[in-house]
Amino acid sequence: MSKTLTLTRPDDWHLHLRDGEMLKAVLPETARHFARAIVMPNLVPPVVTSDDARAYRQRILAALPEGARFEPLMTLYLTDETDPDDVARAKAEGLIHAVKLYPAGATTNSASGVRSFDRIQPVLERMAEIGLPLCVHGEVTDADIDIFDREAVFIDRVLDPLRRRTQGLRVVMEHITTEGAVQYARSDTGGDLGATITTHHLVINRNHILAGGIRPHYYCLPVAKRESHRRALLEAATSGDARFFLGTDSAPHPDPDKLSACGCAGCFTATDTMAILAEVFETSDALDRLEGFASRHGPAFYRLPENDTRIVLRRGAPRRGGGTLDTGAGPVTIFDPGFDLHWQVET
Ligand code: DOR
Ligand code: ZN
Repeated sequence: MSKTLTLTRPDDWHLHLRDGEMLKAVLPETARHFARAIVMPNLVPPVVTSDDARAYRQRILAALPEGARFEPLMTLYLTDETDPDDVARAKAEGLIHAVKLYPAGATTNSASGVRSFDRIQPVLERMAEIGLPLCVHGEVTDADIDIFDREAVFIDRVLDPLRRRTQGLRVVMEHITTEGAVQYARSDTGGDLGATITTHHLVINRNHILAGGIRPHYYCLPVAKRESHRRALLEAATSGDARFFLGTDSAPHPDPDKLSACGCAGCFTATDTMAILAEVFETSDALDRLEGFASRHGPAFYRLPENDTRIVLRRGAPRRGGGTLDTGAGPVTIFDPGFDLHWQVET
């Protein structure tokens, strides 16, 4: 008899949906399994004002397949010019659920990110007052900092001082990749700090990208670190600790943009995320903790109700993941975890 696993329908607390033809193709991959997602604002140009977010939300809803139920949770892209009043209005109207901080130049489309932390302080203070979370891409961009150290240096030099000078600010450390980040997230006892973990960082380490030939489809930012860090992330995700929750950072790029002399960062994981997570949690003997990680800890942090519908996963014959999603913007390679998948979402 095959085994099934019933879970409260999960949410994705960090997702790139893009726009136009790409949006149309990737949105159903998420909406099929997930009820809601925190939608990243790094479009070109970025989603900076509440008007931008309102318009983008409408484009997402218009791109949903007939009959699909999915709620995009919008975010604003923090710049040196962000107006605290606009942010507060957007939160009051229920339009936005977070503001995203990209240090300028840290990753894809982050050129208009934050350059002056003095200039954003009034926005951060207003966010602390109204309880609006700040989602943080936690990497410094200094050329003299080794790319594998950028998260650790960010925590020391930027994140910790920022949190100390902005009492009460609720912060999500996005897509953490190091044992140090796990420890830092655990050091908070006030409930104001959460951390998302991606599907791919639970599966790959830096050898997957670089050993035996370069594999651009595993290149993402923050870049995957050594195996001991992956193990620390896995331990955090499967521990039942509510400070850690799923944010896939599923980030589609057309293959030609990945397979280039200067390839884009991003793993497209939306399609098989729940199947991969079930495999990973099962291997860690923690299947009973998957619901917390994917469906319960996120709503608790964001102060939203848990979803009232369920998904069923069934364990069956093994299949390979990966493959290609054809989009109007070109083919997108689906993340291949490199192991067989036994679980399949049924409903
Ligand atoms: O790998 C990544 N891809 N990391 C990010 O931070 C951005 C994302 C993207 O937008 O492609
Ligand atoms: Zn991202």
